[in-house]
Amino acid sequence: MYYKHDPKFPDDFLWGASSAAWQVEGGTLEDGRTQAIIDLNSKTKQPFADNSIAAGHYYHYKQDVALMAECGFSSYRFSLSWSRIIPAEDHKINPKGIQFYNNLIDELLKNNITPIVTLYHYDMPCWIEKKYGGWLNRAVIDEFEYFCRVCFKEFGDRVKYWLSINEQNMQIVYGHWLGISKGCTNWFEQKWQINHIMNLCHAKAVIACHEMVENGKIGPVPGMVPIYPETCKPMDQIAAMNAEEFTEKIWNDTYVYRSYSNFLQNYWKNNKIDIGMESGDEELMAKAQIDFFAVNCYRSNTAKDALPEAEAKEYLLNKKGQKGELQFPTNPGEFALTKNPFVETNDWDWEIDPSALRYTLRYMWNHYRLPMIITENGFGMHESVADDGRVHDQARIDFLRDNIYQVGLAIEDGCEVWGYNPWSFTDLLSTGNGMAKRYGLVYIDVTDDQLNNVQSAKELELKRIKKDSFYWYSKLIKSNGSDWGKEMN
Ligand code: BG6
Repeated sequence: MYYKHDPKFPDDFLWGASSAAWQVEGGTLEDGRTQAIIDLNSKTKQPFADNSIAAGHYYHYKQDVALMAECGFSSYRFSLSWSRIIPAEDHKINPKGIQFYNNLIDELLKNNITPIVTLYHYDMPCWIEKKYGGWLNRAVIDEFEYFCRVCFKEFGDRVKYWLSINEQNMQIVYGHWLGISKGCTNWFEQKWQINHIMNLCHAKAVIACHEMVENGKIGPVPGMVPIYPETCKPMDQIAAMNAEEFTEKIWNDTYVYRSYSNFLQNYWKNNKIDIGMESGDEELMAKAQIDFFAVNCYRSNTAKDALPEAEAKEYLLNKKGQKGELQFPTNPGEFALTKNPFVETNDWDWEIDPSALRYTLRYMWNHYRLPMIITENGFGMHESVADDGRVHDQARIDFLRDNIYQVGLAIEDGCEVWGYNPWSFTDLLSTGNGMAKRYGLVYIDVTDDQLNNVQSAKELELKRIKKDSFYWYSKLIKSNGSDWGKEMN
């Protein structure tokens, strides 16, 4: 990585960090909240901790917001837990759930921190699954719309930036891992039916936000992993395009153009897939005009050609944090992902590639010309407290610095980017690796073992310790992106 000069960030650029309710809050059965499918899913991921305590943000939110303010945040992206707000099928609103989010929002605003709120981050309530069988039932669309309307009514006077569904593309691509495939008997076809239902949910959220929130803006949150061709062999280029379509582009195209692309419709036709389109669906989708893209981007992938007779291979994620565990997928006749020899990887085999963020921003801007905010980017690592009582996370500082620099370059390239919110503020549970894979600027002094061996969060101090990256990020954001803490040349 080289630094050619100091890139400039807009004066009103939002600097903050990001989280999701089920990964950070804990208190999963506290004050009327009921369980979400992802809570149960997280219980199966031993030896890592489940999410019943997590970072204890439900109890420590005031302290967390005070730390955000000390760091110099101007934004915080978090999600609302559906089952904390609507805990049961009687649709009664849980006053204590509303109170918690009101307190959090008011605390943020008091500290001049703009809330950016995700409506859905992987946490469908269990009561919906019990009643309707999960995402495959179109009844979810009305339930989701009801939940969104409650949120807009309760919080829309103060929250002006809304995000619809977090990483819909990743939920379909990794359906088994994130738990949405539960109850499906033919994932090959049913994932497209679920995807269609999610598109309709997204559309309902966008329409209701514009109707109910004065000056409200809303966008989707794609999980972006740019795809590079392995070589300049023409078929590798087509493979990279295929991978791009099947892992991200078809979702972004649908959000922006508000109808399904020819690529997708032909794929469904050729594979005899019925997505369950009903009359009125196309009209609904057409009405849902988004205001911006919220972009999550951590890494890049590399694709090569896969012949139709190639052996199919599943994408097996590295769940242990020991290098070399990940298995790249092969989709015969479409593409195979492969190792990129030009980039380093972290302990979970994720590519460390800051240029991926500039590439993504350029790519999204060139295709869609919509403003973008970065809602996730970050470095997962094994960490512990050093003998001096501090947490030295130089690798995270290097990652964030190199990535933020690339955001600056993308802005100079002409991309409209209005904020940067890396994952995550405090340590929180990783989707597969619990507390063993940490992302925070603030350390939570607890391990998976400790979380697994207590009955209640009250037995744990869950002490917050500012990491070296906290101090570094604080200087950078207080200087609006000019104090890099490193000589430029
Ligand atoms: C994003 C998700 O894709 O990646 C987060 O929105 C997740 O929920 C983050 O935690 C990092 O992934 P992981 O598996 O390391 O937790």
